[in-house]
Amino acid sequence: MKRSPALVLYWTPKSTVALDSQTGRRTPLAHELVPYVVALTEWTSPADVASRHPDLGAAGDVEALFEGLAQRGIFQREDDAPSASPWADWSPEAAFFHFGTRDGRYAKHPESDAYDVTLRAKARQVPQPAPTKLMSGPTLDLPTCAVQGSLADTLATRRTWRRFGRRALPLPALATLLHETFAVQRWGMVPGQGRVALKTSPSGGARHAIEAYVITLRVDGLKNGVFHYDAARKCLVDRQRVATPGQLAAALAHQRYFLRAAALVVMTAVFARAMWRYPYSRAYRSILTETGHLGQTFCLAATALQLAPFCTMAFRETDLEMLLGVDGINESAMYVVGVGTRPAGNVEQPGRIPQRLRHAER
Ligand SMILES: Cc1cc2nc3c(=O)[nH]c(=O)nc-3n(C[C@H](O)[C@H](O)[C@H](O)COP(=O)(O)O)c2cc1C
Repeated sequence: MKRSPALVLYWTPKSTVALDSQTGRRTPLAHELVPYVVALTEWTSPADVASRHPDLGAAGDVEALFEGLAQRGIFQREDDAPSASPWADWSPEAAFFHFGTRDGRYAKHPESDAYDVTLRAKARQVPQPAPTKLMSGPTLDLPTCAVQGSLADTLATRRTWRRFGRRALPLPALATLLHETFAVQRWGMVPGQGRVALKTSPSGGARHAIEAYVITLRVDGLKNGVFHYDAARKCLVDRQRVATPGQLAAALAHQRYFLRAAALVVMTAVFARAMWRYPYSRAYRSILTETGHLGQTFCLAATALQLAPFCTMAFRETDLEMLLGVDGINESAMYVVGVGTRPAGNVEQPGRIPQRLRHAER
C-alpha cells in the first residue's frame, strides 16, 4: 500500500482531517498516524512497516490498520490503484475546492423561515456588513447617458476587443457602464437583518460582495488614476493613486494591448458580506459566479454603447491589490474587465495580437 496521491491533510482545533482532493472524501485521521501517512510514498507491505515500526503492533495489526486506511481512501492498494485522475493537473488546489465544496447540505423545507430566524438573531449580535463600500476621498459625480439598441443585436455583436480607437472615452459613457453594471438600482429591506442592494445582476442572498475600481487610461475629462465606484452614491471616489503603464502591464500578464483601452475595471470581493450570511466555503462559488454575471453585463452594456469591451483572467491579484490599496485578505481582486472606443474600421481583434500588428499600432 501507499498513501493516496491526492491527499490533503489539514487540522481543525481538535483533529487532523484527511481529504482526498480528487474525490472530496473527508475523514478524520488519528494524530499518531500522520507520520506514517506522510512517509508512505512508495508501495510498502504492512509486514514491512510492522518490522520497521514495532510500536505499531504485530504484522496482523498493521494489516488491519492499513486496510482501514485504504477503506477510508487514505491509502491505496497496489492491485486496485486508480488510474491517473482527470483532475491531476488541477490538484491539489482546484480539486480540493471543487470536490470539497460539492453537494451542499440544504434544508428540507426551504420555504420555512428557520434560517431567517437564525439570521435575525445573528444580526442582533453581529450586524451584517455594509452592503456597499464607502471610501473617503474627493468625489466626482457622474453624468449618465441612455443605453440603446435591441437585446438581440447586442447579444449578437458582443466581442472581446483587443484593438481600440485613439479617441478618448466620453465620461458619460463610462458613467453609464458603471451605472448599468455596478450601481444599486433599488434598495430592499430584509426584516430584522437590514438593507440589501438590488442591482442589474443577481447575487446569492443579495449579498453583492463585489466592488468595482476604475483605472482610467483615456477618459475625457478625467485624469489618469485609480478610482473607487461608489455603488450607492453612484459617483467615483478618487483614490489619489496612480498606476503606471509598467505596473499595469505586469499586473495584467503583459497584455499590453489592453493598456490602449480607455478604462479598466477591477472587480474585488468583500468576502465578509457573503460570509455573514453563508458561513461555509461553498459560497466562494457564488462569488466567482457573480463576477461572471457582472462581467457579462458590463460587456453587453459596452456593446450597446458601440464601445469595445474585454475581460481577462490573466492578472496578478497581488499587483492589482497594491494598486487599488486593498489587502487581498478581506477584499481581493477577482476579475478584470475594460473598455475602449472602437478602432477605425470597427474591427475587433479576436485571439492574441500578432507581433507584426503590435508594432504597426505604435
Ligand atoms: C473568464 C474569462 C477569461 C478571459 N481571459 C482572457 C484573457 O486573459 N486575455 C484575453 O485576451 N481574453 C480573455 N478572455 C476572452 C476570451 O478569449 C474570448 O471570450 C474568447 O476568445 C471568445 O471570443 P469572444 O469574447 O469575442 O466571443 C477571457 C474570457 C473569459 C470569459
